[in-house]
Amino acid sequence: MMNKKTLTYIAIALLGVVGIASFLDDINNKGTWYGAKDYTHVIQTDSSVQKSIETACLDCHSNYTNPVWYDNLVPVSFLIKHHVEEGKHELNFSEFASYSLKKQKHKLHEIAEQLEAAEMPMESYVFMHPAADLNPSQRQAIIDWSKNAIQQLEQKDAQKNQN
Ligand code: HEC
Repeated sequence: MMNKKTLTYIAIALLGVVGIASFLDDINNKGTWYGAKDYTHVIQTDSSVQKSIETACLDCHSNYTNPVWYDNLVPVSFLIKHHVEEGKHELNFSEFASYSLKKQKHKLHEIAEQLEAAEMPMESYVFMHPAADLNPSQRQAIIDWSKNAIQQLEQKDAQKNQN
């Protein structure tokens, strides 16, 4: 026979679960990172840079957000949703290949700039997602990658203009 105290604890625990469940809020970004138009189609990217972008950027800058459980909790979910909306609008790695060449170059320029200024990934996000914290060499690798990519795209552009 369970005593009254145990029953009370169970009741409180159940209420807690129901309470949390009712605050679950879906982050509605459930496409895929990679597809017909993702950035890897237009920029040569080695696997370590790709991995860094996946862990530090794609939650907000792609068609798929991979939430940790507390991301779905109100009010964290409100913040994440807002960041995803705004982040995707500014730069979407899943759609990057569909941007004009000019826009691609501009966004790559912005990427280098954001990382040099240590503006991205957003501090509040890194606080909640420590795995997204890039070390200086990972950061530098993305900066080099984006500058290199601008050159690749400029060569492509020059070739196109010759034909
Ligand atoms: C928590 C969500 C989040 C993460 C993670 C994140 N960003 Fe952002 N990013 C945003 C938001 C929101 C904006 C738009 C508002 C602003 O500039 O602060 C933005 C803006 C940008 C811009 C500016 C685009 C422009 O044209 O002005 C670039 C470039 C960028 N992010 C690159 C990155 C890169 C690269 C990473 C990974 C290293 C990253 N971001 C990680 C949310 C995020």
